[in-house]
Amino acid sequence: MENIIIMKEVKKIFKDKEVLNNISFEVKKNEIFGLLGPSGAGKTTTIKILTSQIIPTSGQAIVLDNDVYSFDRRILSRVGILSDNSGVYERLTVWDNLKLFGDICGADKKFMEDILERVGLGNDKRTIIKKLSKGMKQRLLLARAIINKPELLFLDEPTSSLDPSIANEIHKLLKEINSQGTTIFLTTHDMVEADKLCDRIAFLNNGTIVEIDSPENLKLKYSKPVIQIRLRGYDKRISLIKNAENAEKIKSWILSDELEAIHSYEPSIEDIFLKVTGRKLK
Ligand SMILES: Nc1ncnc2c1ncn2[C@@H]1O[C@H](COP(=O)(O)OP(=O)(O)O)[C@@H](O)[C@H]1O
Ligand SMILES: [Mg+2]
Repeated sequence: MENIIIMKEVKKIFKDKEVLNNISFEVKKNEIFGLLGPSGAGKTTTIKILTSQIIPTSGQAIVLDNDVYSFDRRILSRVGILSDNSGVYERLTVWDNLKLFGDICGADKKFMEDILERVGLGNDKRTIIKKLSKGMKQRLLLARAIINKPELLFLDEPTSSLDPSIANEIHKLLKEINSQGTTIFLTTHDMVEADKLCDRIAFLNNGTIVEIDSPENLKLKYSKPVIQIRLRGYDKRISLIKNAENAEKIKSWILSDELEAIHSYEPSIEDIFLKVTGRKLK
């Protein structure tokens, strides 16, 4: 499958501080790829390299067949970026903010109106930015990031500091944008988000990528399937590995009506990150 992003042994050193140490990964066309790591891990640095805002100290980075060292501005028309320094004009309306960007990339009025509908701001065209909630502002920034119908969308912690319900809406929207053909590269320290949204995730810790796979495969790799049960008259839960012998035991407890509760336990991506790195995500 086609690689939209290739990073090969990328290093980034700021003065004497090595932030990225030989990062390598590829992002395939139409993937939602998540870079997961605690604060200070180097996530924003990676996005800045991929969007040519800073250059690597060494290594190779290719985005949409363009080498980031020899940055070609034309690539900007093919990507969208949402980062925490994406600003809006506070005294303009929602519509005027979007139009400023839409006009640059030749978006027509109908398309801009459609996008506002899709991010749930269809009724707020005339609202001044100052009056928007945080979640609404974030949705406007997302609208702006996709106004040029990007092939590749970069999102730096798109839902941090948003309510879970608003984060959910953004997730739905991102899935939809992805299903219409946009490859998405996002960073997050939210493991639930990574698990739900991403086809593959990479764990970034101390400047290196320590794991990279689908959430499902990571769960299979780092944990045995476990069943937890509680028997009548006992307070404590018992954890059992899924195997034939334990299946027989459980069957007999069911037949003798001793089994009070049963459920299977799935580790979270946070558990796995902790296991792999010894570090919590926050
Ligand atoms: N321009 C810079 N100069 C010096 N150090 C920097 C610069 N940008 C980032 N850093 C350092 O690099 C590390 C990684 O930062 P960053 O990529 O922003 O992490 P994250 O986005 O994962 O929280 C941090 O320790 C940060 O202080
Ligand atoms: Mg960051």
